Amino acid sequence: MRLFIAIRFSEEILRTLLDAQERLRAAGARGNFSAPENLHLTLVFIGESEDVLTLRRVVDRAAGRAFPLAVSGAGRFGELWWAGVEKNPALEALAERLREGCRRAGFSIDEKPFRAHVTLARQLKYDAPPRLTVPRTEMTVSRVSLMKSERVAGKLTYTEVYGRDLG
Ligand code: 2AM
Repeated sequence: MRLFIAIRFSEEILRTLLDAQERLRAAGARGNFSAPENLHLTLVFIGESEDVLTLRRVVDRAAGRAFPLAVSGAGRFGELWWAGVEKNPALEALAERLREGCRRAGFSIDEKPFRAHVTLARQLKYDAPPRLTVPRTEMTVSRVSLMKSERVAGKLTYTEVYGRDLG
């Protein structure tokens, strides 16, 4: 199965992100908008693996303490539009512990630096480029989730296969 490790959002942050998507649509942008239940922040992309047991251990060891996180601002990588995440040493340290743990356990993890972002839409097309702002919205990160990505009846579906609460 296709796996990744992520942070799932509070209702308040989800509202901020859904509102940003709505404003993109209202500005005439068309494309592949992330479904509300799929909005998340990826910490590590694992790819194909069946080894959930090992990944559970990696998540348990890397978990650490709960910490605050804020989404804020927006940008794009080509046609992929994202909401930003405020600079956050605790978040970067968590992502690094998870990546190192995955590597030590034998998973091959992308060497590219971690760039925290929340994908709002892919393949976004428009006549005039929309101007998107995402107001700063904060939450406490108190759980890390190992997620499975699959197509169910043609629909991209993410399911938590393991969650670890942070202390
Ligand atoms: P993205 O939103 O920028 O595409 C599930 O696919 C999650 O893993 C997404 O958040 C996706 O980021 C992220 N991811 C990171 N590297 C990936 C890769 N090589 N292929 C697919 N998804 C990747």
